[in-house]
Amino acid sequence: MAKISPAPKIRWITDFDLAAAILAHKAFREVTFKGLVPLLGHVIVTLEDEAHRERRSLEGRLFVTSLLKSHEESLIPEVIETTLQPYLEAGSGCLVEISQAVTSRIAARIIGLDGLKDPSATTEAVRLLSALVGGTASTHGEHPPLTRRQARNLLRQHFIDNALERRRNLVNQYRTGKLTRAELPFDLITLLLLHQEEWNTQQISAEVAFYAVAAVDTTATLVPHLMHELWKFYQNPTNLSQGYVSLPEDQDFLRAAAAETLRLHPVLPTLFRQARQTIELGEICFETGEVVGLNLGKANLDPAVFGDDAKEFNPLRVVRARTRRAGLSFGGGVHLCLGRELALGTPESTTTNPEHSLFGEATLLAQALLRHKARPDPAHPVQTPSEYSRDVYQNYPILLG
Ligand code: HEM
Repeated sequence: MAKISPAPKIRWITDFDLAAAILAHKAFREVTFKGLVPLLGHVIVTLEDEAHRERRSLEGRLFVTSLLKSHEESLIPEVIETTLQPYLEAGSGCLVEISQAVTSRIAARIIGLDGLKDPSATTEAVRLLSALVGGTASTHGEHPPLTRRQARNLLRQHFIDNALERRRNLVNQYRTGKLTRAELPFDLITLLLLHQEEWNTQQISAEVAFYAVAAVDTTATLVPHLMHELWKFYQNPTNLSQGYVSLPEDQDFLRAAAAETLRLHPVLPTLFRQARQTIELGEICFETGEVVGLNLGKANLDPAVFGDDAKEFNPLRVVRARTRRAGLSFGGGVHLCLGRELALGTPESTTTNPEHSLFGEATLLAQALLRHKARPDPAHPVQTPSEYSRDVYQNYPILLG
C-alpha cells in the first residue's frame, strides 16, 4: 500500500509583535501564494531578493503619491458616480455588487484591462479571480465550480489577451515614433511592455492576473464590512451624542473607520512564511524549512497592542507609534501591500493638509454611499457571515436616495 506522508506541520503565530517581526525578517520567505507558481509562473509576490526588489521598484511607479492623488481627484470619483448611477435610479442595489463593480473598474484602469464596463463583466471577472485563488472549491451563485487552470484561461480569453494586444500595438507605434510617451496609457501592462522587453505574453498575463486578484476582491470585500460597521456605529446614540462624526463629510473619520474595519476583518486572514535558515525570534527557534502560519485575524485583536477593547470597532482608537491602524492586514516587510494607499489612503498621516493626504477608494466609496443616503434594506435583512464561514458578505441589499 502506498505510504501517505504526513502533511507538514505548521507553527501558528497569533502574537502581533512576533507576527510583525516574522514578516519583517529576511530569514523568512513568502509562501502564501506558492500555489500560484505552477499555474502562472513567478509573479511579484512569489519573487525573492534582487528579482523581487527590481520588480517592486518598477511597479511601484503605479503607486506614487502624485499619481494616486490625481486618481482620487478624477478617476475614482468618476468611476464611483457612473457605477452608482443605475442603482440611484432604481433606489436600491446590492452593496457587494456595487463594491465589486467600483473596485474592478478602478483596478482595470490601473492594470490596463479593457472590457470591464458593465456589471455583468465585472461580476464575471470577480468570479474568475476568486476561482484562480480558491480553485475547485470556489463557486459563485449558480455557476459550476471552476478549476484554477480553467479560471486562468477564461481570464486571459475574456479580459487580458485583447487588452495586451491593444497596448502592444500602442507601444510599437511609440517605438516607431508615431506616438509620444505622453500619448501612451500609464498602466501596468504598458509599463511591463516598455520595461520588460524580453517578457512573453504568458509572463505579462500572469503578473496582470495576480494584480487583478490582489486589487479587486480585497477592497470589494472590505467595503460591505465598512458600511456595516458604520451603520452600527451611527445607530449607537452615545457615539452620535458625543459629536464624533459630522456625516458624511468627515473624511478623516471615514478613513480611520476603513482602517479599523480592515483590522477587524482582515481580507487575507492568514499569511504563510517559511524559514530560510534556523533562526531564533521571540524565544522560539524556527528550523530551516519550517512553515509558519500568521493568524492576522487573531494578531490584530492583541490587547497588548490595541487595548482591552481590541475586539470593538472604534475608529477613534489611539494607536501606538509605528503600528498601522489596520494592524497587519496589509502584511509587512518587503511584500507589504503595494496597493494599500490606493485602497485605504494614508490613515497614519498626521498632516491636516488634504493636499498631502490620501483617502483611498474604500473611504471615497463609503463617503459617496453615505452622501446618497445608502442604508440597509429593512425588507431584506443581511445575513452576517457566521464565525465558521469566510468573513465575507455574499449579498447585502441596500436602499439609496
Ligand atoms: C483592502 C485592500 C487590500 C488588502 C487587504 C491587501 C492585502 C495585501 C497583503 C496582506 C499583501 C501581502 C501578501 C504577503 O505578504 O504574502 C498584499 C500584497 C500586495 N498587494 Fe495588496 N491588498 C489590498 C489592496 C491592493 C490593491 C488595490 C492592489 C493593487 C492595485 C494591491 C496590490 C498588491 C501587490 C502588488 C502585492 C504584492 C507586493 C509584493 O509582493 O511586493 N493590493 N496585499
